Amino acid sequence: MRTWTFEEITDDDVDQVVDLWRACELIRPWNDPHLDIADARSTPTSTFLVARNADAVVASAMAAFDGHRGWLYYVAVAPGLQGSGLGRTAVDAGEVWLRAAGARKVQLMVRNTNEQVIGFYEHLGYGDQSTTVLGRWF
Ligand SMILES: CC(C)(COP(=O)(O)OP(=O)(O)OC[C@H]1O[C@@H](n2cnc3c(N)ncnc32)[C@H](O)[C@@H]1OP(=O)(O)O)[C@@H](O)C(=O)NCCC(=O)NCCS
Repeated sequence: MRTWTFEEITDDDVDQVVDLWRACELIRPWNDPHLDIADARSTPTSTFLVARNADAVVASAMAAFDGHRGWLYYVAVAPGLQGSGLGRTAVDAGEVWLRAAGARKVQLMVRNTNEQVIGFYEHLGYGDQSTTVLGRWF
């Protein structure tokens, strides 16, 4: 199996990452993907990682440490490469960054209708935290 490497995103990767999320149906009307990437890159408490096949971005993972918990966001693998271990490597890369940042726990949010992705994370050792996430737009 091929070994994949995740590195910090560069300016040249940004549009490709947005295309990747579009292909993975991760973009929601209320989230501006370019803004989300820019926000993550603007603070040392988060990182934005990508894997490339030659020059093409094929996977992403965003990690953020909020001072209490580590969070993963935007884990995505190009549809043609899903099922080949790249998703696990993306999660590993985010976890490595979070441990180094000082996080003792990692968690993430998945829509509870997304059974396929919940199965993926459960396979990697993640479990339901019996928590309701509440939010409010500023
Ligand atoms: C979810 C996603 C990142 C998984 O990536 P992937 O490359 O397909 O996953 P991998 O091939 O690395 O799978 C890792 C392991 O999980 C297992 N797995 C994958 N999906 C699974 C499922 N639904 N149930 C149980 N196990 C699953 C694999 O068999 C593999 O097991 P192994 O390493 O023990 O052999 C990918 O499908 C994706 O990008 N989906 C669309 C975007 C998305 O919804 N992201 C999540 C946002 S919260």
